[in-house]
Amino acid sequence: MIVSPSVLSCDFGNIESEIKMLQESKADWIHIDVMDGNFVPNISFGFPVLKAINKHTDKVLDVHLMISNPDMYINEFVDCGADILTVHYEACPHLHRTIQHIKSKGIKAGVALNPHTPVNVLDEIISDLDLVLIMSVNPGFGGQKFIESSVQKVSKLKKLIESKNSDVIIEIDGGVNLETGKKLAEAGASALVAGSFVFKSDSPTETIEKLKQL
Ligand code: DX5
Ligand code: ZN
Repeated sequence: MIVSPSVLSCDFGNIESEIKMLQESKADWIHIDVMDGNFVPNISFGFPVLKAINKHTDKVLDVHLMISNPDMYINEFVDCGADILTVHYEACPHLHRTIQHIKSKGIKAGVALNPHTPVNVLDEIISDLDLVLIMSVNPGFGGQKFIESSVQKVSKLKKLIESKNSDVIIEIDGGVNLETGKKLAEAGASALVAGSFVFKSDSPTETIEKLKQL
């Protein structure tokens, strides 16, 4: 299992030590939630914070853009160190162009689906993607309750991916813990994002190890 702790729940006053902790942990990726106060009802952080994180780690930076008009900012996110850029299906009227733009920069491209968006909207584009991010909460905040129907959504996505003979990574974001993570792993998830479950635990590094074993 790929584990991608979300820094949204870290202690921003001590971001250097939080990133160093992740750097030394078994985490595969570091999940970075960018929110613009427009696409989602919250504002998180942008380029300077991403650059600061990149300075303290060589882990894969898994950047989740919860922003309107992501096309405008792709080049700058790549310059700041993004290794994976995931845009929201709901924010991209010209999704094919957006995905080609991200891939032309030599990094991985992902598409995120809000809880109400069915997986079959990806039918025509799935073979162009490196990753699909299923949102198992409504995007905007950490620490929300897991939406149980997300487990079936993962199974449906897995079937769609198999029908296209593709090897797209299925990543899940929101309310992930050992219990929900186990169900998601059984349904076919290959990457788990976890924010509050990692950072609010007594030992984030041990929590990461437990998630990796799912
Ligand atoms: C929510 C973000 C998530 C968030 C997950 O909009 O996309 O990445 O950090 O937080 P938890 O794991 O606490 O639900
Ligand atoms: Zn996220």
